[in-house]
Amino acid sequence: MPIVAPSILAADFSNLKKDIEMVNQSEAEWFHLDVMDGVFVPNISYGMPVIKAIDELTDKVMDVHLMIVQPERYIKEFKEVGADVLTVHYEACTHLHRTVQAIKDEGMKAGVALNPHTPVHLLEDIIHDIDLLLIMSVNPGFGGQKFIQNTYEKLVQASELIERKNADVLIEIDGGVGMGNAAQLVQLGADVLVAGSSVFNSPNPSQTIFDLVNTGKFSG
Ligand code: DX5
Ligand code: ZN
Repeated sequence: MPIVAPSILAADFSNLKKDIEMVNQSEAEWFHLDVMDGVFVPNISYGMPVIKAIDELTDKVMDVHLMIVQPERYIKEFKEVGADVLTVHYEACTHLHRTVQAIKDEGMKAGVALNPHTPVHLLEDIIHDIDLLLIMSVNPGFGGQKFIQNTYEKLVQASELIERKNADVLIEIDGGVGMGNAAQLVQLGADVLVAGSSVFNSPNPSQTIFDLVNTGKFSG
């Protein structure tokens, strides 16, 4: 069964507490928190104070996705506001190995995200050092976008790489994930499904989370 990580970007910011409590009571194991700087991506989201406030309301895993340039400058700060998993973009890190080590030195799990155009094989030499591989299934920057079909192929390549190298790495899929593609993603090896608009725009968000967690369970 996949881990479902509702993306708070799609929550109701005027009543965040209500949505946090909904997730707390749901089958979701993680919170997905998108940090955007208006430089790496053409949008600005939220930062440390919001993440800290959410962390104080939950015991679930805080999965922080940094869509920012020079993420190595803020590793300690994100640890302090409650990040458990800290993911940086391959495209934003000249010294990715050093950044990954710094994240782990702070006691967090280290994730690396790939934009839709970035091939999986570029992670060959770092796959043993990371805990999570995030495959962007939309171009980062906005919620509610259409899932890019080539993600399936990348997911297969990621599963093969991890198996061939005998690495211990979770695969997370982020962008345009919902009931229409979740079962296939899980079947192809996805461990973590990020779901923003498909959860928060649904008539019954906690039921949608339940359905995503249990996706494919009865189809073998
Ligand atoms: C996009 C973010 C995603 C986003 C997903 O840049 O990384 O986490 O919130 O939103 P949906 O599920 O609506 O595509
Ligand atoms: Zn994200």
